[in-house]
Amino acid sequence: MTDLWSERASSYVESDAHREGADLDLLVSWAAGAETALDVATGGGHVARRLREAGLRVVTCDPAPGMQPDVICTAEHCPFADASFDVVVCRTAAHHFEDPAAAILEMARVASRRVLVVDTLNMGDAGERAEKLRDPSHVRNYTFDEWRGFFDGAGLELEEHRVLPHEIDFAAWLARTGCVGAEADEVRELWGARVAAGRLTLDKIALKGRKGS
Ligand SMILES: C[S@@+](CC[C@H](N)C(=O)[O-])C[C@H]1O[C@@H](n2cnc3c(N)ncnc32)[C@H](O)[C@@H]1O
Repeated sequence: MTDLWSERASSYVESDAHREGADLDLLVSWAAGAETALDVATGGGHVARRLREAGLRVVTCDPAPGMQPDVICTAEHCPFADASFDVVVCRTAAHHFEDPAAAILEMARVASRRVLVVDTLNMGDAGERAEKLRDPSHVRNYTFDEWRGFFDGAGLELEEHRVLPHEIDFAAWLARTGCVGAEADEVRELWGARVAAGRLTLDKIALKGRKGS
């Protein structure tokens, strides 16, 4: 997994689907008041960049060395002391984690105030098949109820959540994982009406958790 992500690093740094999005604005607004942040599974570093622009001191982590994080680690095992960061953020990555419940538990442990998560929402079985075909490293997009379970299990109070449409370039999305030919055609079929005029509309879920007192 780690080498695969290192090989993909530059395409995730440059990706419009990752560099931009209403979810980034929302995360910055939800982090207001924090001074320090941890960006878990930083990938191309887009969350870290936006939080730094907002004045926060940010540490990044990711298991893929090619992503050039400050710290190389998985979300399931973060080498930081309890309550090290005011806010811990993880965007568009949990669907790749082997153990998302353990990852949220770990994020809650190293946060002193908030855990903020954005990920692709589960859009049904056809969507899951499309995701897996396009990228075998895809584990699962979770439903809102599953996310609520992860937050509850980590002792986080779910203060707010939003579902946001996220429209991206379909061909670029396929190209990032090298999905071509018959497989790309099948992925197109599976998404149905979600692909129109060369754009794929995904649903994203953003969750704002508060650490209990
Ligand atoms: C789609 S990219 C991240 C996008 C980035 N957070 C952003 O906002 O643009 C997914 C990242 O998850 C990382 N990753 C995969 N499995 C992981 C795990 N178990 N723990 C932490 N990061 C993981 C990959 O190395 C990759 O950098």
